[in-house]
Amino acid sequence: MKSNDQWSSRFGFILASAGSAIGLGALWKFPYMAGTNGGGAFFLVFLLFTFAVGAPMLLAEFVVGRHSQQNAVSSYESISGNPKWKWLGYLGVTASFIILSFYSVIGGWVITYLLRSFSGSLTGLSNSRYAELFGEIIGSPSTSLLTQAAFLAITIAIVQFGVQKGIEKASRYMMPALFVLFIVLVARSLSLDGAMEGVAFFLQPDLTKLTAEGVLDALGQSFFALSVGISLMVTYSSYLDKSADLTGSVISVVSLNVFISFLAGLAIFPAVFAFGFEPSGGAGLIFTVLPAVFNQMAFGGLFFTIFMALLLFATLTSAFSLMEIIVSTVTRGKGNRKKVAWIAGFFVFLLGIPSALSFGTLADVSIFGRTIFDAMDFLASNVLMPVGALFISIFVSRKMKRDILSSEVMMSSKIGRVIFPIWYILIRYIVPAAIVIVLITSLLAY
Ligand code: PHE
Repeated sequence: MKSNDQWSSRFGFILASAGSAIGLGALWKFPYMAGTNGGGAFFLVFLLFTFAVGAPMLLAEFVVGRHSQQNAVSSYESISGNPKWKWLGYLGVTASFIILSFYSVIGGWVITYLLRSFSGSLTGLSNSRYAELFGEIIGSPSTSLLTQAAFLAITIAIVQFGVQKGIEKASRYMMPALFVLFIVLVARSLSLDGAMEGVAFFLQPDLTKLTAEGVLDALGQSFFALSVGISLMVTYSSYLDKSADLTGSVISVVSLNVFISFLAGLAIFPAVFAFGFEPSGGAGLIFTVLPAVFNQMAFGGLFFTIFMALLLFATLTSAFSLMEIIVSTVTRGKGNRKKVAWIAGFFVFLLGIPSALSFGTLADVSIFGRTIFDAMDFLASNVLMPVGALFISIFVSRKMKRDILSSEVMMSSKIGRVIFPIWYILIRYIVPAAIVIVLITSLLAY
């Protein structure tokens, strides 16, 4: 998409921003974060942050982008008249770069599972074999790097040919299909022997299990899952015309995302307990548990293949948005998109190599007590996204006039009129305060 292009419709915009938001965040990272942070307590705090911090941030980014009609970097400068604010846009682009570098590693795993499920080699194994197999796959440097590169190449090819719009329209069918399959999966998972223990783990908050780090993880997760804090949604909404209803779009994207996260938890945790897996299994959680659940279903092999194809699709639509913000910042609507996309992709790949290898060859390397992969994720989700969000909330509520904000939010939106006063208090006081408190508390607890 070129910078002067506009979305063909409000629906196209919702599809693209929902496509960016819904991906590995809800489907892979959420269950694993909830699993390592005590289940229900994490879910509760995550919901709180999503509604009180993440959602208002999404609206704030939409307001900036639609008002300025410029990309992430130029938006802040053009609104404030002060070139110093550009750094906030650059922070977002840097974060996108880092996120894509480790996102593509997991994208690679999805490709591997999709290919293996095609060959039928993932059906009929014992539950412990699924866990072993996952270890073998992620531990193999050649498989990890090849599939990571393949994932990036697909992303770039699609961004380069500018066919995202086609892909985004396709998500109209793919997303509902993913929903339906998830509901089948939840039903199967809930009917396993011993499932209720998992439901309790996921839905009964035990606040004693919550640590300062868990709270920071929940904040980071609410940003990661909504793609906010890195000005990506600023760039997306800059293609939007003045008549679009921003509040309505926020409500759609947030509710879809929360619902998918909820389904993911309900599909995973009952099975984790029924099969005797560890809820704190980490990054491999869905890759070890889901094949085992599908294995218990009629036509499980076929359903698993379809599921992985849909997951790959959802993952790609998020990756496009990350690539798009990088390319559109570098080219600024001019220049050679194709060349820029391939060069950027090459550097993303290089940066991603240590993350990919950190599940095998480089497993022992630790940065502040984390593997390289975890450190990258931590840096992006728990540092750059909250810091970016903090400054975006300050920018919006202190550098933009209240009547400009109110006209952006209320424009062609009935619900916007109701939401605006609440949103204004959230974005001006609650969002920055919450971020500062969480960051400082976890720094002190460190
Ligand atoms: N929200 C995406 C997901 O949940 C990840 C993402 C983060 C995409 C930040 C773009 C920007 O998979």
